[in-house]
Amino acid sequence: MAREGVGAAMAPAAAEVRYGIVGVGMMGREHLHNLAHLAGEVEREQSVRVCVTCLADPHPESLLLGLRLAAELGLPPPQTFSGHRELLDSGLCDAVVVSSPNMTHSEILMDIIGYAKPHHVLVEKPLCTTVQDCEKVRSYSGQGCAMQCAC
Ligand SMILES: NC(=O)c1ccc[n+]([C@@H]2O[C@H](COP(=O)([O-])OP(=O)(O)OC[C@H]3O[C@@H](n4cnc5c(N)ncnc54)[C@H](O)[C@@H]3O)[C@@H](O)[C@H]2O)c1
Repeated sequence: MAREGVGAAMAPAAAEVRYGIVGVGMMGREHLHNLAHLAGEVEREQSVRVCVTCLADPHPESLLLGLRLAAELGLPPPQTFSGHRELLDSGLCDAVVVSSPNMTHSEILMDIIGYAKPHHVLVEKPLCTTVQDCEKVRSYSGQGCAMQCAC
């Protein structure tokens, strides 16, 4: 039996898109900035919550800069990981921004594509460093993974 008044009193839960950033250098921090602005805009216009839940980078200094920037932007502190696999295993994000060095893209993208839980992906240019790797990533990316390459 439905509990009286409960449905009417509760506002519908806002949809949430949780972002993770892999590679928190210059471009990773640029994406953090952009996502913070997007969070404000999207929440005002639509009932969608955008948040950056996690950062992955093997260099502690980069993670520290990312955390500092998140605090300056008024974002809740993202969880930090030393690599993309730990970030994926955390289950903390629905969309991944790949802004690590070019030569790491292919391996990271294939791990994201092959991961049991599907993710949306935005990868910084270049997609990969060889045509062969680009074709491999492209041929697998249709299978449950929406991918965009920033130019
Ligand atoms: N769209 C554009 O206009 C534009 C401009 C500059 C750079 N880029 C691209 O953005 C990407 C990042 O460039 P950047 O200038 O920010 O470099 P950067 O050197 O400033 O930052 C790279 C970060 O990735 C980290 N990293 C290294 N190996 C990693 C790994 N295996 N997993 C996760 N993180 C790792 C590094 O520690 C560093 O913090 C590159 O692909 C580059 O080509 C795009």
